[in-house]
Amino acid sequence: MDSTKEKNEKYIMHTYNSIPITLVSGEGCYVTDSTGKKYLDFLSGIAVNSLGYNNNTFNKAVSGQLGKIIHFSNLFLNNLQADLAEKLVENSSFDKSFFCNSGTEAVEAALKLAKKFGKKKKKGAWKILAMNKSFHGRTSGSLSLTGQMKYQETFLPLLPGVVFAEFNDFEDLKQKTDDETCAVILEPVQGEGGIHPADKEYLVNVREFCTKNNIALIFDEVQCGIGRTGTLFAHEQYGVAPDIVCLAKGLGGGLPIGAILATEDYNLFEPGDHAATFGGNPLVCSGALTVLTELIDNDLLGRIKETSSYLGKKLEELNSSSEKIKEIRGKGLMIGIEIEGSSSEVAASCREQGLIVGTAGTNVLRLVPPLIIGKMEVDEAMDVLQMFL
Ligand SMILES: Cc1ncc(COP(=O)(O)O)c(C=O)c1O
Repeated sequence: MDSTKEKNEKYIMHTYNSIPITLVSGEGCYVTDSTGKKYLDFLSGIAVNSLGYNNNTFNKAVSGQLGKIIHFSNLFLNNLQADLAEKLVENSSFDKSFFCNSGTEAVEAALKLAKKFGKKKKKGAWKILAMNKSFHGRTSGSLSLTGQMKYQETFLPLLPGVVFAEFNDFEDLKQKTDDETCAVILEPVQGEGGIHPADKEYLVNVREFCTKNNIALIFDEVQCGIGRTGTLFAHEQYGVAPDIVCLAKGLGGGLPIGAILATEDYNLFEPGDHAATFGGNPLVCSGALTVLTELIDNDLLGRIKETSSYLGKKLEELNSSSEKIKEIRGKGLMIGIEIEGSSSEVAASCREQGLIVGTAGTNVLRLVPPLIIGKMEVDEAMDVLQMFL
């Protein structure tokens, strides 16, 4: 048997309806499939490949580390994890970090930390307020916080004590919290739910309310963090900071990493409370350090701001000439285009023309390109999108 599709069907559980295209290599913002066809990639492995593909600096750092040591567990000290923690903390409002391997694991860590906070610092408060249309992952804990019944229904009952509120509705949040609420979790820009940015006033109010009521505020920036919106953390643009932030996806530039950062008040884990065998191993940390160095020290953040404002202008033009577009939402290089009709059909037509775009739900196209895209790539993507919108 030599067909990837056949092997896939025979040997792999059907958890994805994979597109029948086998990608075999990538360069910059482009990927190539097994037939040699090249695509401009505006999905970047679902908002993961921050530096695109086959990036020299990234490759050098990671392959250099590969020849030294990949993994030895957290039972020993790890200089690259320490450097990564320093870089994240020194460039944020947080004091401490914890490393794991994925977004869902970052959310699990935040959830446990919030529960411990409730136990230790709020008379046993244990309930969590999460948002409708949110997405926090697929493990039982993070799925319990995911406010979309289509993901939850097969696996009910999930964690008790999770209450859902309407996103961007401060009155609803106030009504649905009580003395037993230990945490509020939200995405500053909801991703899987259809690319919905929080309103500034809402986040400011939520921050004030949580501080006043001794509730841990958790931002899930797994998708919108690490430069995606044009600042290192999406919350910087709102002028508010959470107590705990969840990170993953783009932080590793393609290598699997997850992390939480927390302020000193939430520095509550003790040995035995939480752990991850692979968490923050030297190999992934060498990649993550490269991503952060490019963003912070080599001004990739500045470039993202420029490119995203150009993309914004081009999208406005597209919007004004299109009958199919209902709304364009998002921040920086995290854009949702809500359309009349099926987003997966439009995405398929784009692929035919050599452009990969994502979807978020049935009628939203999702653009989350590598953070290194420039005006040329934006123009090329627009040429294809305007054929179908
Ligand atoms: C906001 C958010 N949180 C958590 C997750 C889960 O991340 P992972 O798939 O790495 O477990 C995702 C994945 O899409 C996400 O968008």
